[in-house]
Amino acid sequence: MPLPKAELHLHIEGTLEPELAFELATRNGVELPYADTEELRAAYRFSDLQSFLDLYYALMTVLRTEDDFAELTDAYLARAAAQGVRHAEIFFDPQAHTSRGVELDTVVAGLVRALERAEERHGVSAQLIMCFLRDESAESAMATLEAAKPHLAHIAGVGLDSAEVGHPPEKFREVYEAAGRLGLRKVAHAGEEGPPEYIRSALDVLGVERIDHGLRAMEDPSLVARLVRERMPLTLCPLSNVRLRTIDVLKNHPLPRMLEAGLMATVNSDDPAYFGGYADDNFLAVREALGLEDEQLRLLARNSFLASFLEHDEERRSRYLAEVDAYDFAG
Ligand code: HPA
Ligand code: ZN
Repeated sequence: MPLPKAELHLHIEGTLEPELAFELATRNGVELPYADTEELRAAYRFSDLQSFLDLYYALMTVLRTEDDFAELTDAYLARAAAQGVRHAEIFFDPQAHTSRGVELDTVVAGLVRALERAEERHGVSAQLIMCFLRDESAESAMATLEAAKPHLAHIAGVGLDSAEVGHPPEKFREVYEAAGRLGLRKVAHAGEEGPPEYIRSALDVLGVERIDHGLRAMEDPSLVARLVRERMPLTLCPLSNVRLRTIDVLKNHPLPRMLEAGLMATVNSDDPAYFGGYADDNFLAVREALGLEDEQLRLLARNSFLASFLEHDEERRSRYLAEVDAYDFAG
């Protein structure tokens, strides 16, 4: 039985496995520029974030109907549950769908349909975090927030993703202020490829409550000290970092140094269909490559529940934490 954990950094569009992509392409009459799943998998060799994003946006064009989004999400939840995920806070990218004519209502309805059955089918609780594409304009982000207003009962928070360098958090100050007024929680990708300054401004300008990635914080000791002092959660994605070449080999991942420094790190899968593994695959990989001890893995799992947006259900958080505490690594 895998270690119980929460997944806090997961793009639902990044869970699209080649098999489902081809199935949906056939169903929806979308032509993919690959002959088969094998040829598609061979294209999963990335040189940086942008080279991944190009394929990620191209492949998600097969997602067209409410059923497609529900099926994608249900398949993720089944996989996540098998890997010990008890609670998932799931990112989605509305602009990547609305820009190609798929209505926000369609996307949200499909995601929500799967989430409403998640507990009963998979024993997983789940929430949605709506991400703005940072390489699109602030106006487009604001329009997306406006369009999401009828769906806010189903959306826990907002995030910021896509191409980081050249698109600092400051660009989205007003959007995050508006999201805050709507009672939404706030996270943002920062310090994946972008500099430590982007982490500072995500905190100071956007008022985020977690940093997604935050890897490059390690270049700035005073920032590390601040993140430790504020117990700011970082949602690390180790296999993603290797596949996108922000880290050369997993053995050199700073996770052990981050734990040593007292940072509140969590381990997540980012885009598991593309990066070679789901939540527990990431845990097993860091254990193996970095020689993490059982109690360090337990700490990472505890952190995931402590950093999750479960304030509306503290009883549930306590139950999950008790499960982590009781977990027997030898069993
Ligand atoms: N980084 C930024 N944007 C993304 C990612 C990522 O790893 N995955 C999907 N959108
Ligand atoms: Zn991400």
